[in-house]
Amino acid sequence: MCGIFGMIRQSPFSSNELLQGLKRLEYRGYDSFGFASNTGELTKHIGSISDFIDKINQSEATTGISHTRWATHGGVTLQNSHPHSDCNERFFVVHNGIIENYEELKNELLSRGHVFKSQTDTEVIPHFIEEHVKSGLSIEDAIKMFIKISKGTFAVLLMEKNKNIIYAMKRDSPLVLGLMKDGFAIASDIYAFSNITNRVIFFDDNEYAIINQNDFGIYDSYGKQIKKDFMTFSWNKEENLGNYEHYMIKEIIEEPVAIERLINSLNNEQHDTVEKISSLIKIRKVLFVACGTAYHASLLGTSFLRFAGINADAVIASEYQNYMADKNTCVIAVSQSGETMDVIKALQAARASSAVICSIVNVPHSTIERMSSLSINIKAGQEICVASTKVFTGQAAAILYLSGAKIVTLQKLLDSVIKQKDVIKKISEDLCKARDIYVLGKSEGYALAREIALKIKEISYIHAEGMMAGELKHGTIALIEPGVPVISIIFNNNEDMISSTKETEARGADIFAITNKPYPGKWNFVIDSEDKKLFFIAAGTVGQLIAYYTAKALGRPIDKPRNLAKSVTVK
Ligand code: F6R
Repeated sequence: MCGIFGMIRQSPFSSNELLQGLKRLEYRGYDSFGFASNTGELTKHIGSISDFIDKINQSEATTGISHTRWATHGGVTLQNSHPHSDCNERFFVVHNGIIENYEELKNELLSRGHVFKSQTDTEVIPHFIEEHVKSGLSIEDAIKMFIKISKGTFAVLLMEKNKNIIYAMKRDSPLVLGLMKDGFAIASDIYAFSNITNRVIFFDDNEYAIINQNDFGIYDSYGKQIKKDFMTFSWNKEENLGNYEHYMIKEIIEEPVAIERLINSLNNEQHDTVEKISSLIKIRKVLFVACGTAYHASLLGTSFLRFAGINADAVIASEYQNYMADKNTCVIAVSQSGETMDVIKALQAARASSAVICSIVNVPHSTIERMSSLSINIKAGQEICVASTKVFTGQAAAILYLSGAKIVTLQKLLDSVIKQKDVIKKISEDLCKARDIYVLGKSEGYALAREIALKIKEISYIHAEGMMAGELKHGTIALIEPGVPVISIIFNNNEDMISSTKETEARGADIFAITNKPYPGKWNFVIDSEDKKLFFIAAGTVGQLIAYYTAKALGRPIDKPRNLAKSVTVK
């Protein structure tokens, strides 16, 4: 998590310009933000950039670095906000990642008299550079030394007070350099400066760079200069809120259009990629790796593929070490951002065991896309709400398409669900009073039960549990009391689902059924589909609307829920 953004230019730019770039990375974390410039300015604030950008005093500089934080080490305080500096405030550092051996490095620096002001792992970096420069090394050699002895992940920008130079280094966390007319931008991802330039260089691991107003050099960890060419990228149009109250509802309402775009693209420009992946998965075992919502789309996807006779499994990326992949495995990473560190780490391990790497991503040019031999883009456009909605639907549809199924009517089905959103709004006004909500599903419905529960938890802060319906009676049913809401996902009157639902009803639960045949519970939402696979994808949209309206009734900050970030770039 955390976003970093720096600029170095021949003519002065305002702090607002720097922060506008940083604001575009706010989805990576919004606990606090800060920036430093070559004029000596150092500003930090708790909270998100959007809330402060118009209140910041304007100053001009030719070099600046900035940071938006998702706290890992140390609470959300001004002291822990970046940029961090050394004892003499000569070096300023912003960092995304985690320095895993920071305690060891810190103890060494403390024993040499350094005084730390924060609880962060990052602060060891400026002190480390200070210490080694004091002992006679150049800044560049101190950076090489840091790359050599540090453990963990980092994308770092470092600047020296009153100097027009940015030093950068990277391992695992993403870092990209952009060429501007009169200088350079450097950031966690291209989105930070995609409105300014489309000419970029991606850094590889253990590389560092020295960038001045006119030129730059990129080096490997031994100091050997590496020749890298700029590549150009294209970017979808930028999203804005328009007349919607929240990005979340806008993004849910966009689903039918996004699915139409996806199907067109899979039939045309991405047809070759689809064909190649389809051939691969017929002769290999498929292992999806993903986190959170993308994992739930993968779990649903395994059912779709198994139904088509393809051997498929899904693993939560942070648990990948428990799985064995080999050259006969096709590992498919599913990720909206394409930057999730747990997924990247799993892919590195899969690559080491010679598995074929494919992916399904939304953000083009992302790390996961670049790590893959073949990658499908789900073309959902920018997803701004932290909770993933239209991308979940797109991921599930893309996997269904890979299984060879027809999905042409999905768009219409989603339209019909969205048209009935007021029904869901009404029921959510009831649901929002609950302390706990249980969501039950079976088979494909289990993936949905987990996804709907996650959506409810993350944006309404109501405790919700997504369960295999048949498993309830083995323990969790002890928690069912009169009035507890149970959302039950029932396709074609599935007998097992009905039995499990009745068992909760017998203990007083209020049943909210998502179904295609009316169920006599407290409330029904009927999805008009006899197609089981499309039914379950559409059930996801119903769940998203339930979560949205429940959170709205509770007045939650829907697009930026507490403690979360859109791109989870730490382990
Ligand atoms: C929940 C949500 C997260 C992400 C997860 C993986 O609404 O969005 O659970 O799905 O952090 O992120 P990506 O898809 O970017 O790899």
